[in-house]
This record gives sequence, C-alpha cells and structure tokens, in this order.
Amino acid sequence: MPTEEVKKEELVPIFIMGKRYEVPSSLTIQKAFEYAGYQLIRGCGCRGGICGACGTVYRFPGSYKIEVGLACQTVVQPNMYLTQIPFFPATKGVYDMEKIKPTIETLVKAYPELLRCLQCNTCTKSCPMDIEVMDYMAAAMRGDVARLAELSFDCVMCGLCTARCPAEICQYNIAILGRRLYGKYIAPQADHLAAMVKAVEKGKYEQMLRGLMDTDEEALKDLYNKREIEPEQADEDWTPKDKTHL
Ligand code: FES
Repeated sequence: MPTEEVKKEELVPIFIMGKRYEVPSSLTIQKAFEYAGYQLIRGCGCRGGICGACGTVYRFPGSYKIEVGLACQTVVQPNMYLTQIPFFPATKGVYDMEKIKPTIETLVKAYPELLRCLQCNTCTKSCPMDIEVMDYMAAAMRGDVARLAELSFDCVMCGLCTARCPAEICQYNIAILGRRLYGKYIAPQADHLAAMVKAVEKGKYEQMLRGLMDTDEEALKDLYNKREIEPEQADEDWTPKDKTHL
C-alpha cells in the first residue's frame, strides 16, 4: 500500500474553534491541538489526568449534546467540534480554617448558592472522573462533611461540573472545602506525622540532607537505585478511614 494512502487512513478530521484539521486518529485531544500547530501555554498541566487543567467541550455535527472531557485523556473522534476551557470563572469562598467548624453552616456561609442545587445530575454527567457529583452535593446540603469528602476524593478541579450547572454552583470548590474540613476536624490525627514534624524541626535530618547536597550526581543515582522501598499496600486494605491525607 502506498505510504500516502496509509497516512490518509490514519487521519481524522476535527474542528478546533471552528477550523478544520486532519490529525492522527490515535492522538488525545491535547496532542491533536499540538499536532495542528497550537502551543498550549494554558490548558496543559500534568498531561496525565491529574491536574484538571485541560477541561474541554466538544460536540458532533447533528447532535444537540455538549460533550465534555479532559483533553489529555480523551482520544479524538472524527468530526469533533472542540474547544478548551482551561479556566472557568468560579466563585471561591474565603474562610479561615482555624476559625470554622465542619458543619452545614460553614458550607452555606462560604457558598450560599449550595442550597440552589436542584439535584438535576448534570454535574455528575459532566464529570470526566466519573465522580457522583450530585451525590456529594446532596451530602453537602445535609451537612455530611465526611461523605462530601469521601465522594469528592478523586476530583481534579477541572471545573466542567460548574461550567454545566444550571444553578450556577461551584461544586468543586465546595468539595475542596469539605475535604479540608474533614482533614482538619474529622479524620483521625496521625500521631506519627506530628512526631516526624517535631523531629524535622529539631534538625534530626539536617546533617543527612547536607551530606546529600554535597554528593555528586553519580553517587546520588547510586543511592537512589539502592534506596529502601516500602512494599505496596494492597488496594483492598485501603478503606475510607485511611484517608487521613484528605
Ligand atoms: S493536563 Fe492535567 S488533567 Fe489533563
């Protein structure tokens, strides 16, 4: 088969902000943007589905439905009309973690619009992380901070839920307040962490760190390769109670 023909078979048409490009069918939306000549200065962070910087909306011709996804994770499909929304102007409550309590009053004071939630489920349908956003909003409206924190744990703060919410609520900022409250006031405190912080403050590792700073690159690589590695914890041993890092 002539090379030209092979190339053609591998390309699909997509539309970036209305302009047509042909891009390899195996690319993610993010890579397709770059293939088409865009330089991603915003809307491109971790490239691994973690940072939430690459929220993208798209639509297929003839379809009423607005689709959403993370540009770094979603593979292009023929005739996608797409654009990125790397930043969404969401409301952000101001609060002092030392002075607030893990209650519904705290959530409502920071985000009064929380009570406008209609439970329409548009947020859940928009979430590229498959989080039950509507359910954590219900938990927030009940003042169940632990459930709010647990259900929103995988949120990458991409803002797509907020972009679609007909009640104009900023779900992901409410969720991070919930996780902060959970971490500070509800999760069991890790005593070993407090002990370790004290030891660091007293300079227990100072000499070791200075030694590392004076070590040349080859010796550092060797040290790294010979480091002690803790055995991985099996997934089934991990329960919500272990989320002390929330
Ligand atoms: S670039 Fe970080 S989630 Fe896509």
